[in-house]
Amino acid sequence: MTQWFDRTLFEGLRTEQNVAWGGSMHLLDQVTSTNDAALEAAQSGEATGAVFIAREQTAGRGRRGNAWLAEPGEGLLISVLHRYRGDTERLLGLSLVVGLAVRDAVQECLNSTNRTSSSSVRAQVKWPNDVLVSGKKIAGVLVETRTVGEREIGIVMGVGLNLHSRSFPRELPDATSLALLGVDEEERRVERVTVYLLAALAKKLDAFLLQDFSPFLPELVDADYLHERRIRVGKVEGRGSGFDTAGRLLIADERGQVVPVISGTVEMLDGAV
Ligand code: BTN
Repeated sequence: MTQWFDRTLFEGLRTEQNVAWGGSMHLLDQVTSTNDAALEAAQSGEATGAVFIAREQTAGRGRRGNAWLAEPGEGLLISVLHRYRGDTERLLGLSLVVGLAVRDAVQECLNSTNRTSSSSVRAQVKWPNDVLVSGKKIAGVLVETRTVGEREIGIVMGVGLNLHSRSFPRELPDATSLALLGVDEEERRVERVTVYLLAALAKKLDAFLLQDFSPFLPELVDADYLHERRIRVGKVEGRGSGFDTAGRLLIADERGQVVPVISGTVEMLDGAV
């Protein structure tokens, strides 16, 4: 029996919220990375909607070779598998779509707290893969893919979300958690946050794969942390100006020219995180 995850509570919440994903649930006390577990399972035939959650990762990874650090049991470490037949170029904006689902889940938890306090705190996405609250990082997304059949790929959507931590290592000065944001213990339970996330993720992924990035443009007006901020990505410098329908970040340079950016690391030029 796994002490740190209550399957009965999870199943109850999953049924209540009508969430199809998570029927195949792999709970791992310790693993190198939940993304590794999901990628391997994809190759062994595991189906869309399978979920991998760890209490502890020994080699959790983030984007661009960074490590993802989390004390055992303090965060949600989750990977969700989707089997995909289609053009990989269409997946360009997927990281941000997953980020928006994480944002919804975080916002749901924050709203439960906001209902009993006067302040309203907003969760935002920071292209390409971060979720921030009040300028501090609460979650990160790492999407990875692997060919699993002749014309099929396994898409693994990995999310690390800080639930209970009240302090962070020196390397993470700008991190926050649901606990630090005042979300109560019951509302930040791993089973509950998992259900919120799976519900949002399934809905958003369906819309994204059916169409493109356009259904998400309205919600990004509010949720885009980079909007109107001075930034640099590679050689492109200017103000964050939203996204195009393929999910590329748009930067308006000094001459007012709007340049689409596919990938890269964002440098904040206005002193923000
Ligand atoms: C980032 O901020 O750079 C992305 C971090 C993603 C971390 C999650 S934790 C669950 C999954 N397994 C991993 O090894 N990484 C992702």
